[in-house]
Amino acid sequence: MCSFLTKLILKNIFLMKQVFIQTIGCQMNVCDTDRMIALLAPLGYTGAAAPEEADLVIVNTCTIREKAAHKAYSFLGRLAGRKKRKPDLLIAMGGCLAQQEGKKAFRRAPYLDLVFGTRALDRLPDHIDALSRERTRIVDIGMGGQGTAGAPPPLDAVPASGGVSRFVTIMRGCENFCTYCVVPHVRGKEESRRPGDVLAEVRNLVAAGAREITLLGQNVNSYGIKENFPSFARLLEQVASVEGLDRVRFTTSHPKDLSPALMRAFRDIPEICPHIHLPVQSGSNAVLKRMNRGYSRECYLEKIRSLREIHPGITLTTDIIVGFPGETGADFAKTLDLVRTAGYAGLFAFKYSDRELAPAARFSGKVPEAEKDARLAELFRLQESITIRRHERMRGRRVEVLVDGCGRGRKDPLTGAAIPQYAGRTGGNLIVNFSDPATDWTGRLVTVEITGVHAHSLSGSRPEAV
Ligand code: 5AD
Ligand code: SF4
Repeated sequence: MCSFLTKLILKNIFLMKQVFIQTIGCQMNVCDTDRMIALLAPLGYTGAAAPEEADLVIVNTCTIREKAAHKAYSFLGRLAGRKKRKPDLLIAMGGCLAQQEGKKAFRRAPYLDLVFGTRALDRLPDHIDALSRERTRIVDIGMGGQGTAGAPPPLDAVPASGGVSRFVTIMRGCENFCTYCVVPHVRGKEESRRPGDVLAEVRNLVAAGAREITLLGQNVNSYGIKENFPSFARLLEQVASVEGLDRVRFTTSHPKDLSPALMRAFRDIPEICPHIHLPVQSGSNAVLKRMNRGYSRECYLEKIRSLREIHPGITLTTDIIVGFPGETGADFAKTLDLVRTAGYAGLFAFKYSDRELAPAARFSGKVPEAEKDARLAELFRLQESITIRRHERMRGRRVEVLVDGCGRGRKDPLTGAAIPQYAGRTGGNLIVNFSDPATDWTGRLVTVEITGVHAHSLSGSRPEAV
């Protein structure tokens, strides 16, 4: 009660306001949300723990599949009542679905004040400022790129949500035009940030406590090609040499652009984590062709063979779409076969979902939902057996883990108190949990021995600091 009153008084004296941002979708959106928080700070906004406490609620949306779009509208739907009770509440929709919907969003959510697309992020403070002076409706889905100079500069303010593992966007947009994908239509042309800007942001984050950085882009392997910047492999070298940074990751790599230089980076730069997410999407050449992926299964398998030759310990993960239009049982069998051959540590698999802006929405040979469900289940069953087998091989090994979370685990049988349960990742991106009642390991790099094996994670012994 006391802290509530203090907050209320402070809010009125200093015109402090609170913003709640609901993030849906990929890591790029998580990164964009951080940026929104940093951009809104100069207007007096601090983060709210729940939408009920906020003066401004933003939903940062995704439209990669129908389900994600649906999630955004159901979140917005729950705000309708709040707006009635608190008419000065500002509600905004940002991100990919906002870009796709534009002013159509007002029809489905009439209580929205602002719809801002993927290229309007840096104009968010201007729009919020305008709305707090005069109530109107604003739509900003301008895609007008300003070239590299317009790509986001580093922010002086370090984003509010801390942590040892942080993301840095190095490029935006995509020009691959896979036929199922909405991204090129809502995130626009590919643009890379200047290496100097990327490095400045990495240094900021490391100064604020980050020990692991993941560089993000829809297609990081083509970083800087258009702009004539030094290669992505060179950028990795520069980022890895930032003082105080232990680990560097990157995602997503497109298999067609995975160069020998990048493969060698795994071997030559010790800070680069030995894990690559290399979405294959399908194991059938006929389907890959209709998806416009630009590689064959043979070419993909050859690339992962080279990767393993260069770095035998590397772990691989992938994305797969089941039930793409025209995918036959025989095509799907080829995907299962590729999964057996590739030996992934894990995979993300999705049922194909029509996106109006993407050409595959108009392809014939739609696969029935029930068939997609069955294929998805079979794929997950297969991968689970592969993962468990791979995890079994880890038993008894000592691994390095960067601890990025702590929760309350099982109860101590003697005292009844909850023993803290820590979670972290190995360099190969495997999740390891361990408990320790005595020491706070949050944010530290530790060595643990693997003592337990599960379908999605490993358990470890009490750790030692590295
Ligand atoms: N339907 C299902 N999955 C999709 N993805 C992208 N577009 C679609 C779609 N229309 C998947 C791909 C991609 C991942 C991010 O989402 O596997 O790699
Ligand atoms: Fe979408 Fe393909 Fe671009 Fe990935 S590479 S964002 S799947 S169009």
